[in-house]
Amino acid sequence: MKFQYTSRQKIIYSTIFVTLLLGIIIPLAVMLGLRRYSTPKSAIIVPLYIYPAPGAWDPLLEAISINPSLNFIVVVNPHSGPGAAAVPDANYTREIPRLNSHTNVQTVGYVPTAYTKRDLTLVKHDIRTYSEWRSNSTVPGLGVQGIFFDETPSQYDDTSAYFLLEAQKEARQVLGFTSRCLLINNPGTIPDTRFLDGPNMTVVFEGTYDTYQMHGFSHKIEMLGRLQGIKASRQDFGCIMHSLPKDVAGSEASVKKVVRELRNIAGAVFLTDLGENYYSTFGTCWKQFVELAK
Ligand SMILES: *[C@@H]1O[C@H](CO)[C@@H](O)[C@H](O)[C@H]1NC(C)=O
Ligand SMILES: *[C@@H]1O[C@H](CO)[C@@H](O)[C@H](O)[C@H]1NC(C)=O
Ligand SMILES: *[C@@H]1O[C@H](CO)[C@@H](O)[C@H](O)[C@H]1NC(C)=O
Repeated sequence: MKFQYTSRQKIIYSTIFVTLLLGIIIPLAVMLGLRRYSTPKSAIIVPLYIYPAPGAWDPLLEAISINPSLNFIVVVNPHSGPGAAAVPDANYTREIPRLNSHTNVQTVGYVPTAYTKRDLTLVKHDIRTYSEWRSNSTVPGLGVQGIFFDETPSQYDDTSAYFLLEAQKEARQVLGFTSRCLLINNPGTIPDTRFLDGPNMTVVFEGTYDTYQMHGFSHKIEMLGRLQGIKASRQDFGCIMHSLPKDVAGSEASVKKVVRELRNIAGAVFLTDLGENYYSTFGTCWKQFVELAK
C-alpha cells in the first residue's frame, strides 16, 4: 500500500514537472532566445527593370516558386512607366502574368514623379494605364496590385504634399480600394516624417553600400522606426542597396551581416553587387541574397 502510494505520488510529481517543463520553461526559453538572436522577416523588393526577353526573368521566377513563404514585391517598369501603348509588348504580357500567378508576389507599376516636378496629369495617366491593363488585354493575369512612385521628394512643402496625395488618391481609386493595393514612395533617403503616412511603404534608402555605411543609415533608420507619433515603422520601410564592394560580396559572412542589418530595420529589402545599371540584370549574389533573406 505504502509503496503504491509513493509511486503514484512520484507519477504526479513527475507529471507536474514535465508539464511545467514543456508548458512554461521551454517555451519561455525559446521565446527569450528567439527575441535575442532571430532576425525579423522581410519581403524582397525587386526593381525589375530587366527587359523580359524569353528567360530573362527566370532567376526571379525560380526564387519565387522555390520560396513560397518569402514575399516578393516586384516593381515592373516597361518604359520608365507603363509606356505609351495601352498594353506593353508581348514579352511583358507573357511574363507579368507568370509573376501574378504566385500568391507570394505583389507586382507594382513604376511611375516617375521627378520630385513632384512632373505634370500630375501624366502621373495620373500612367496610373490609369496600369489599372487598365487588365481590361485592355486579352491575356489573363496581366495587371499590377499597386504603384511604385519613384523620385518622391524628401523635403516637405505643401505643393509636393498635395501632388503626392492626389497621386495616391488616384491610385487607390483606380486600382480599387482592396486591401492588397500597395503604394510605395521612393525618396531613396529618409524623408520628412509627414510624407510617411500616405503610402503603404517608403523606400528610406536607395544607394551604394559605401553611402549607407558612411552616413550611418542603419542607425538612422532604426531610430526612425522607433519614433513615437508617426504611423510608419520598420515593416513600412524599404531598403535598396547596390554597389556591394567585391570584398564584401565575396565573403559569405559579410553578405550575411549586411542582409541581417537590412532586415533588422526594413520590412522590404534588396541587395545587389552591381555597380552600374544596378537593376537591369541580376547581380552575382542574387541567389545568395534570396537564401539569406529567408
Ligand atoms: C521579345 O524579346 C525578344 C528578345 O529580346 C525580341 O527578339 C522580340 O522581338 C520581342 N518581342 C516583342 C513582341 O517585342
Ligand atoms: C482601355 O480600357 C479603358 C477602360 O476599360 C478604355 O476606356 C480604353 O479605351 C481602352 N484603351 C484601348 C486602347 O483599348
Ligand atoms: C495600404 O494602405 C491602405 C490604406 O491604409 C490599406 O487599405 C491597404 O490594405 C494597404 N495595403 C497593403 C497591401 O497592406
